[in-house]
Amino acid sequence: MVDHPGGRRLAVGAPSPYPPPIAMSSPRRPLYVALALALLAGGGALTLSHCAPRGGARTGGDVDEADLVAGAQLYRTYCGLCHGDEGEGYAADNANALANQQFLASVTDEFLRVNIARGHPGTPMASYARTHGGPLSSEEVDQLVAFIRSWQEVPPADLPAPGPGDAERAEPIYAAQCASCHGDEGEGVTAVSLNHPVFLATASDAQIRYAIAKGREGTPMPAFEERLTAQQIDDLTALLRSWEPEEELDEDAVAEPAAVTASPVIHPDGEAPDFPELREGRYVPAAEVARALQDGRRMVILDARPTSDYTRFHVPGAVPSPYYDLERVKEHLPRDGTWILAYCGCPHAASGRVMDHLRAEGFENTAVIDEGVFHWRDEGYPVVVGPEPGTLADAE
Ligand code: HEC
Ligand code: HEC
Repeated sequence: MVDHPGGRRLAVGAPSPYPPPIAMSSPRRPLYVALALALLAGGGALTLSHCAPRGGARTGGDVDEADLVAGAQLYRTYCGLCHGDEGEGYAADNANALANQQFLASVTDEFLRVNIARGHPGTPMASYARTHGGPLSSEEVDQLVAFIRSWQEVPPADLPAPGPGDAERAEPIYAAQCASCHGDEGEGVTAVSLNHPVFLATASDAQIRYAIAKGREGTPMPAFEERLTAQQIDDLTALLRSWEPEEELDEDAVAEPAAVTASPVIHPDGEAPDFPELREGRYVPAAEVARALQDGRRMVILDARPTSDYTRFHVPGAVPSPYYDLERVKEHLPRDGTWILAYCGCPHAASGRVMDHLRAEGFENTAVIDEGVFHWRDEGYPVVVGPEPGTLADAE
């Protein structure tokens, strides 16, 4: 298991520090995507072969239109929640702008594939490939890559290799210019992490240097070539590279949790918990839930994250109820007013979607665990590792 050093801390309930998203350098959507979406929306048999992406695409051939349509559908189901339906980023959890042109011009398909398949465990970015406990086949991951690539409107960037750099010399610059957004050790704060082993194993030095020099237009990431010397940017590139673990990425196999087939009620004979009034009518503090669990209160806890994250660790007795598969547990949920709580890492996006769905279906006592599961773990409340729900007795 790759654990994320330092664990990202997310402000609870704080509004996004970013200005509202993000005028891309060109708001035009390439024709083939518009057509793909028209098809999705129920259109008929359009032929798209004449407008397969060129230039930017790095797949080395024409992209199959059926893959684009499938990719668009997958993207909406799995990714838009955080990265925005148009790839504009920052819909939740400070997820980056996948449609950003400097991003797309500087990353390979392989980078996209591995970062989607393996995710960034320890951050809200889960592993999505079935090989890593997630929901997607490798074909589906490829379809997502093709769809994300279709947002690219510029040719691949010229990525000059950095000159030799001195990581130590970069430390004060990093502390002054970068840490406020990326964290003291690159663990991520309001911006993506820079020290994640999956990122560092898949990003080239040239790609990292390009990001620092050119920035990401329309996002808070500035173009540092206007502020720093070429040598300072080389030094910063070396500093980020120095955070890469010595060991190669391990297999990181993660089991998929089994389907829920029985009642998921925890402490079925217990009394109902005595929660305070929900904040904004939605949120219950983690401390209250931890106490209720300890006191043997009757409730259901749903883990709204992808199944891979569930297996890595979850709240004792929680069952997987991923935000993209809202039917998965519903038929087993009690309709007698038993409290049903949802949580995610995020802390609210995925769990909020699950809870809203339950409310729309008429479930009475529902809430989201306010601070999310990273906070839960960091507070020292019990967690269970593995694909089984487990109980307090199994917890670490
Ligand atoms: C719960 C929110 C969430 C969802 C859902 C989500 N992501 Fe992410 N994603 C993030 C965050 C946050 C990061 C940055 C992680 C970090 O700080 O290391 C990220 C990072 C990434 C990256 C790496 C970007 C980089 O430059 O390092 C890619 C690629 C990506 N996501 C694609 C996807 C795709 C495709 C999907 C759908 C299958 C998806 N994400 C679903 C939150 C999410
Ligand atoms: C004001 C906040 C802010 C500051 C300061 C900042 N960054 Fe960023 N950085 C971001 C954001 C936000 C992104 C992701 C933008 C996107 O593509 O959506 C980013 C992206 C990056 C990336 C690409 C990461 C990836 O996963 O693709 C690198 C590398 C990077 N920053 C390095 C730096 C360095 C080095 C510094 C200091 C010299 C720095 N940043 C300063 C906000 C910031």
